[in-house]
This record gives sequence, structure tokens and C-alpha cells, in this order.
Amino acid sequence: MPDAVRPNNRLFVALDLPDDLRQALGTRGRALERAHGGRAVPAANLHVTLDFLGRVPPERAEELIEALPGALRWPALRVRLAGAAQRPARGPARLVAAELEALDAGDLPQRVDGLRRLVADAIGREEVDARHWLHVTVLRMGQPTRLAGFEWPGDERVFDISRATLYDSHIAPGRAPRYEPVVRVPLG
Ligand code: 2AM
Repeated sequence: MPDAVRPNNRLFVALDLPDDLRQALGTRGRALERAHGGRAVPAANLHVTLDFLGRVPPERAEELIEALPGALRWPALRVRLAGAAQRPARGPARLVAAELEALDAGDLPQRVDGLRRLVADAIGREEVDARHWLHVTVLRMGQPTRLAGFEWPGDERVFDISRATLYDSHIAPGRAPRYEPVVRVPLG
């Protein structure tokens, strides 16, 4: 197999969002950017992070690439928009994210945990982050900024998520990152 990832990779596993949800959230991110500054995440880059790996030695990444489809034998997910939140939750915000509620997927936290354990084994990571927050970051603040509340339309729309992807994030100063898909895994 040729080198699957570049040596200085920056990997993460994410759920891909359907186009209509990305467009809707992209519009909201731009509205927040106009009102509060920061940088809206471009619609094309919006995703739900399942696990952030950072730099992985390429030979270990190959092992992960082989194991990933087995670890993501998940049903398609139905999610509902469930408001938005800043992080950190108190004080100056670093980001604002849309929160999603998974419908008919009570075992999603266990699935995410299982995925993270498999990733940890494949890449030799000792710690597994037990926190599970189903969110889509829509605005990143350049500087932590105190937000006295923000506008977020009440909206209970439901969307289907039917793909997960291992991405390599190419970052460049002053620009939105470019997310290069390494492996795509259909759900359902
Ligand atoms: P976020 O949207 O919750 O901020 C790709 O960079 C994705 O990985 C981002 O969307 C980000 O999730 C997450 N990420 C980036 N750097 C991270 C880090 N150091 N630790 C955990 N997650 C990170």
C-alpha cells in the first residue's frame, strides 16, 4: 500500500452532515460572525467530530484505516437541531456550536466510546476521552470573547446522517483548514 497519509498529518474522525443541514448551519454561523466577530466555519467544513487524533505515525494510520470500517458498523443516525451553546460554557467564548439530539440512538455514547477505544488501540494512545458532545462548531472566536447571549432560531428540524469519514486536516494561518478525506465509511 502506498503511504496512506502524509507524515505531518492531523487526523480526526467525523460524522458528515447532509448538505441542507450544512447550508443551514453555515448561514447561522455567518449571522453570528456579523454580530459577534470571530470566524464562521464555512458550510463545506461543518461536521461532528467523533474523535480527534492529531498526528499519527503513518504506519499506525494504515492499521487504523483498515480497522475503521469495522468500528463504524453503525445504523444511519437521525438527529434534531437542539439549540446552540458556547464553549467554555461560562466566561469568554472560544467557540459556538449547534447541539444535535440523536433520535432512536440511545446507544450512541457507547458507540462513540467503542470507536475511540479502537482508535486508541490502533494508534497506541493510552487515554480515551469519555466526554461525548454531539455538536457542530459553527463559529470560532479569534480571541476568547464574552457573548451576552446570541441569536439562535428555534428550529426542530430532523436530518439523517449516513456517513463517517477519517479526515486529514491541512491547516494554514489565516485560512479555513482544508479537510482531506482519507477513508469514507457509509452508515446504515
Ligand atoms: P470542535 O469542532 O469541537 O472544535 C478538526 O480540527 C476537528 O477536531 C475540529 O472540529 C475540532 O472540534 C477538533 N479538534 C481540533 N483540535 C482538537 C484538539 N486539540 N482536541 C480535541 N479536538 C480537537
